[in-house]
Amino acid sequence: MIEYRNLKIALLGAGSVGSRVAQLLLEHGDELASRVGAGLELVGIAVRDVDAERDVSLPKELFTTDAESLILSADIVIELMGGIEPARSYILEALNSGADVVTGNKALLALHGTELFEAAEQVGAQLYYEAAAGGAIPIIRPLRDSLAGDRVKRILGIVNGTTNFILDRMDVDGDTLERALATATALGYAEADPTADIEGFDAAQKAAILARLAFHSAVPVEAVHREGITSVTAAQVERARRAGYVVKLLAICERVVDPVTGEEGISARVHPALVSRLHPLAAVHGAKNAVFVEAEAAGDLMFYGAGAGGLETASAVLGDLVSAARRHVAGGPGVGESFTAYLPVVDIGKVQTRYQITLEVIDQAGVLATIAGIFSDHDVSVETLEQSAAPVLPAAGPVASPTSDPQTATLVIVTHRASEEALAATAASLGGNTAVASVTSVMRVEGA
Ligand code: NDP
Ligand code: HSE
Repeated sequence: MIEYRNLKIALLGAGSVGSRVAQLLLEHGDELASRVGAGLELVGIAVRDVDAERDVSLPKELFTTDAESLILSADIVIELMGGIEPARSYILEALNSGADVVTGNKALLALHGTELFEAAEQVGAQLYYEAAAGGAIPIIRPLRDSLAGDRVKRILGIVNGTTNFILDRMDVDGDTLERALATATALGYAEADPTADIEGFDAAQKAAILARLAFHSAVPVEAVHREGITSVTAAQVERARRAGYVVKLLAICERVVDPVTGEEGISARVHPALVSRLHPLAAVHGAKNAVFVEAEAAGDLMFYGAGAGGLETASAVLGDLVSAARRHVAGGPGVGESFTAYLPVVDIGKVQTRYQITLEVIDQAGVLATIAGIFSDHDVSVETLEQSAAPVLPAAGPVASPTSDPQTATLVIVTHRASEEALAATAASLGGNTAVASVTSVMRVEGA
């Protein structure tokens, strides 16, 4: 048997992901050592409660509450505690002591990524975070390395399993949002506080991480426009289905060009959107994640798989551990990331996309011309228009209630690309016109 020198690995956290990382590292240590050319010795696991019951049986003597001493003894530190503090301080401490760090902490990277990357660069250490977006799906390394020679145009990501599960249930089984959320929570997909999932905070953190890598620019999480799925109604899901769409919560990171100045910027946004059933993202069911990347030279690429789960996420963490360990064996400073494009994040009002607008209108002569005029007044071009004699579906949301009054008709209008500003102004004008009984729903249409 080959004798390798040992690299000392410290693990911070032994929850869903950390316990699986420890288990796999202990079980497959020899195999990983042969891939790295050095032994990977798990020297300790820092937790809050060393006596807590754990899903996975791990050697008791590895556990400690003294994270600081453990960090100082390690060549590589794996942070899987979650949260902002003390995770941030521990990672800085590890980097400053010369250790490489592996983390899956999307919340921390979205908030303090710049500080942590700068700290790593200063000491020549490396920060790896494949698990921070898309769980088991390899997407960080493809964006950082494989596509570094290309120009990414757009990323459309289903990056939150809980919301995809809920919307899928509403679409496939006609489930309510509340019932589907209860099931997602019972299955362990949702965060402890599911607000992070259903209000889009989790997806916005992942969008900030992906946009930063794709466009080589700092993207603060506060700059990511965020809307959750709580206002998505059964009626909208059903209407989408009839029109050949599916409702998905998308994280969209897009290179945009100002039509007046020609300057480039970034749009980073999270919101529910209609996706054509012919688009590959429409086939992402249940709690699965997928990231669809459109690049100038490579064309369209899709990365698909488990976006969460202890064992699945542990795979991404161990991949990072192997990379970090190989770097230690090879020597030399860590390879930094390039944030040299300095593209600004543009306001959501300037972003252009297509929209589906559903209206209840008075069914009499001249109304269609009035509606067309309102779109035209705001320079929003209509792509398709469908009229049905009576409301097909109950009203969505708090706006108005369509009735079965024979004097009203339902209009479903899909626009060409228009700015959010123009669309909002159009919707306001429609809502204030006497020919319009109600603006029942406005949904963005993405992916075309
Ligand atoms: P858990 O909540 O299951 O586990 C957290 C672990 O950290 C526990 O073992 C806990 O100790 C320990 N811990 C928390 N605070 C401290 C502290 N102050 N000092 C020492 N130990 C502490 O988290 P997960 O395993 O689910 O997630 C870990 C990270 O991975 C997070 O950043 C998460 O966002 C990310 N991630 C998780 C995914 C998933 O599917 N779960 C998917 C992708 C990323 P104790 O056990 O004693 O309470
Ligand atoms: N709650 C998250 C999700 C876990 O549903 O995707 C993975 O980040």
